[in-house]
Amino acid sequence: MATILIVDDEKNALKMLAQALKLEGYDTLTASSGEEALQLCASKTVDLVLLDILMPGGINGVETLTRLRQLKPQLNVVMMSAQKEIETAVRTMELGARRYLTKPASINEIVHAIEPFLELSRLSKENEALKEQIGTRDEMVGESVAMQQLRSQISLVASSDLGVLITGENGTGKELVADAIHQQSQRSRKPFIRLNCAALPEELIESELFGHERGAFTGATVRRQGKFEIADGSALFLDEIGDMSLKAQAKVLRVLEYGELERLGGTQTLHVDVRIIAATNKNLEREIEDGRFRQDLYYRLSVVPIAVPPLRDRTDDLPMLVKHFAERFHKDNARAPKVIDPSAIQVLQLYHWPGNIRELKNIVERLLIMVNQDVILPTDVENILPIPQSASQPATAAVFQENRFQAGKSLLEMVDEAEANLIRNALDANRWNIKRTAEQLKIERSNFYKKLEKFNIKRPDDL
Ligand SMILES: Nc1ncnc2c1ncn2[C@@H]1O[C@H](COP(=O)(O)OP(=O)(O)OP(=O)(O)O)[C@@H](O)[C@H]1O
Ligand SMILES: [Mg+2]
Repeated sequence: MATILIVDDEKNALKMLAQALKLEGYDTLTASSGEEALQLCASKTVDLVLLDILMPGGINGVETLTRLRQLKPQLNVVMMSAQKEIETAVRTMELGARRYLTKPASINEIVHAIEPFLELSRLSKENEALKEQIGTRDEMVGESVAMQQLRSQISLVASSDLGVLITGENGTGKELVADAIHQQSQRSRKPFIRLNCAALPEELIESELFGHERGAFTGATVRRQGKFEIADGSALFLDEIGDMSLKAQAKVLRVLEYGELERLGGTQTLHVDVRIIAATNKNLEREIEDGRFRQDLYYRLSVVPIAVPPLRDRTDDLPMLVKHFAERFHKDNARAPKVIDPSAIQVLQLYHWPGNIRELKNIVERLLIMVNQDVILPTDVENILPIPQSASQPATAAVFQENRFQAGKSLLEMVDEAEANLIRNALDANRWNIKRTAEQLKIERSNFYKKLEKFNIKRPDDL
């Protein structure tokens, strides 16, 4: 939610404007002097400042504007000016004010004036986050025949504008493949916009994808652009597309076929040019048979299907991957390097890697942390690799023994309670990293989110 700082020396005007903007769905901060405004901007996140020009006593609006711009050059400042100050207001545009409004301005005028700037700052924040993500991404390691084929498939599709469907088990590197396709494509000058369809409840997916008008649903207090609009001229990554609702699928199909969409609650038809790169670890053909995925959308998306092979089918790459993750770990953690003996790598090559490269990365890191001697041997690997399911049964039993029988409660209630506790513990152990927790509990992320909702488990504020 956007935060607006209102600066005015008239306390009543300040209070009324803050209330009105709150009703419009903004967070507000108030300051009754330029000095106070500067302090607030230095210590809090502010998306836009509504600044009165005439403030007797202390520094005036123009001076405040100049200092604010020095403090935060990108900050959006909209001036509020009395009719007689209009000339000064016009001059503030040269000092970097985005706009000026003459007082008294109606709340509609104000919202209309500030919303485009807030939209811009939302987008630039999103871009920053994306750049950060891309910067920390792994490069694709591996020279096996399968990887070479994958690379040539990537460069082939990258040069076209066709839809791509990337399939593969958990942790095989689908997201890396999607990134590589975008980076090598002609659209790479614009940011690759992403949406994880499993991470959001069904109702929110549509508004994320298509945007919404103000008042489209409860809580839609301001207009928002959807990912399709934001990705216009670029590409959109629809991750875990197998989890998308049939209703959203129908709308996505329309965008793919006609380049058309409407925001939720809107009547205006927008035209966009977006390349779709989708990924899933589900078998979409089976989803189609079961009536959960539209066949026509499947055909549109999978003009070029790319199947990322599981790690167990390319164990030739394992030594190189182990080396890569070990080097990265040593670099990030400044620990004395350890050597993983080739015989230990052979043991790793025998394992079936259900969690693929993500699991390998975790195992390598755990070996480097937990093994004390300088050379890691086969027995160390055997000790650390997960035990097959049947052998781990006693641990599960112990977990349930802690949850004693409680008279008066149904079995279902007690099981639910135990399940909710297990989930809470696992989340705590992973510092609320949902992705990792879901993986550890071997539960699909979409399903995991449903459980969080069912048990009303919420992230603590202090995390
Ligand atoms: N070829 C590779 N070389 C180096 N690192 C890789 C490679 N493939 C995947 N990784 C790393 O493994 C992890 C999992 O990759 P990614 O998130 O792309 O998998 P995914 O297929 O999208 O998994 P999921 O289905 O669970 O979303 C990431 O940390 C990624 O950087
Ligand atoms: Mg993924």
